[in-house]
Amino acid sequence: MNTLWSIMSYGICVASLCLKVSAVTDTINTSQFLRDGETIVSSEGSFELGFFSPGRSRNRYLGIWYKNIPVPTVVWVANRENPVTDLSGILSINNSGAIVISNRTSHVIWSANSVQKAQNPLLQILESGNLVLRNRNGNSDIYLWQSFDNPSDTLLPGMKLGWDLRTNLNRQLTSWKSPDDPSPGELSNGIKLSEYPEPVIWKGTTEYFRGGPWNGLRITGAPEQKINPVFSFKFISNQDEVYYMYQLLKKSVITRIVLNETSSSRDRYVWVESENSWRLYGSLPRDYCDNYGLCGANGICVMTGSPVCQCLRGFKPKSAQRWNSMDWSNGCIRNEPLDCTRKHDFVKFSGLKLPDTTHTWLNRNMNMKECREACLKNCSCMAYTNSDIRGRGSGCALWFGDLIDIRQFSDGGQDLYIRMPSSQQSICLSFWSRIC
Ligand SMILES: *[C@@H]1O[C@H](CO)[C@@H](O)[C@H](O)[C@H]1NC(C)=O
Ligand SMILES: *[C@@H]1O[C@H](CO)[C@@H](O)[C@H](O)[C@H]1NC(C)=O
Ligand SMILES: *[C@@H]1O[C@H](CO)[C@@H](O)[C@H](O)[C@H]1NC(C)=O
Ligand SMILES: *[C@@H]1O[C@H](CO)[C@@H](O)[C@H](O)[C@H]1NC(C)=O
Ligand SMILES: *[C@@H]1O[C@H](CO)[C@@H](O)[C@H](O)[C@H]1NC(C)=O
Repeated sequence: MNTLWSIMSYGICVASLCLKVSAVTDTINTSQFLRDGETIVSSEGSFELGFFSPGRSRNRYLGIWYKNIPVPTVVWVANRENPVTDLSGILSINNSGAIVISNRTSHVIWSANSVQKAQNPLLQILESGNLVLRNRNGNSDIYLWQSFDNPSDTLLPGMKLGWDLRTNLNRQLTSWKSPDDPSPGELSNGIKLSEYPEPVIWKGTTEYFRGGPWNGLRITGAPEQKINPVFSFKFISNQDEVYYMYQLLKKSVITRIVLNETSSSRDRYVWVESENSWRLYGSLPRDYCDNYGLCGANGICVMTGSPVCQCLRGFKPKSAQRWNSMDWSNGCIRNEPLDCTRKHDFVKFSGLKLPDTTHTWLNRNMNMKECREACLKNCSCMAYTNSDIRGRGSGCALWFGDLIDIRQFSDGGQDLYIRMPSSQQSICLSFWSRIC
């Protein structure tokens, strides 16, 4: 790795017309090129852009890595699927706002285009690790293109994970195929849109881990996500945008989230100066119960249970035989089918990861009483809860059809009110209680 990494320090200038990019700059303009071996560095020296070879590969990729730490850590790759096979790669931008990587024979290896009309554009590597294209004159916060809108496998502080609904832009992370190959692997992470959107990790096209919807404080599937001194996080969901983002509280901290193909996980690392290494801070999925839909429809996963899968109270295995052989995929059905002509009530379940939100309805202004009534009015409504648990709680989320991917947390879970025939109504607060 080290020898290949050091290849970057060679500067090869083939064309005689070239203006060399000076080492101290953070920008490239339309009359400059960035050759393999040259780099640009963000203003305070946090990030560097240049060509590199990953792992044992000899292929060359344009990427961004930390400049201020000694462990080579690439956070973004431009030409993930189209490497330059020798050291002839050249990065340039042109007057119409195209960013182009070409090789010795001037073949375009990779390009990205400005969405708006460019006027004397500049390509700049920012302190945040964002590579941006902007007009030289004009608002420096308006970007014609930015690498943050085209993530690789890493989510840096300030990056949006999710959707700009106005332009239909969907920002997702995708893992590298291997440490030697940055082309997109199996694992991806983004926001699943619905009335009540939530972050999801996919393996191929299959949902693999579900974060749960945002409850005003955190993602409901991550109760350990607490206020901490290192970073803050937020989830924005309105008619224009739906995204997750975290931000640093202390500028000196270096942290990143990365998807790992090998371990099939989404890992947060924090740089530990005294150890000169990355420390794993948290990893998703955490445990067996984090496997999406493990217990099937209307099942609930309890890590301390034996077996981990149980049917929600008021439900029984759809196939007792399969259930008893620990194949829970068929899930659970009601002990007594819901008869819409009869009276119904709700049973409160506590400490949960809220079910899959694909079939939900949301109203941010309703209170609990109105929410309950709204659910009662529609016989296919199975459950409701506050969409925002801050203070005394507000908003209304309704679930329709089967309840999928519920788990029990020992701490920090949420309440969910599940519809039951009136006869089964009870004062149970938790599903496993023997008193019920
Ligand atoms: C690009 O930057 C170089 C070095 O600062 C400068 O000499 C050149 O005039 C610039 N070109 C344009 C088109 O701005
Ligand atoms: C800039 O590059 C893009 C992509 O290669 C090309 O389509 C476009 O015509 C170029 N514009 C100019 C002004 O050279
Ligand atoms: C440049 O790229 C083209 C297209 O990928 C390829 O056919 C050609 O062999 C490359 N040239 C060199 C010198 O690598
Ligand atoms: C993935 O995890 C393995 C260990 O499980 C580690 O060696 C490797 O560096 C990780 N890759 C990334 C991209 O973090
Ligand atoms: C019940 O809710 C579902 C899902 O939102 C909807 O498709 C259906 O029309 C509703 N039924 C009634 C009677 O309102």
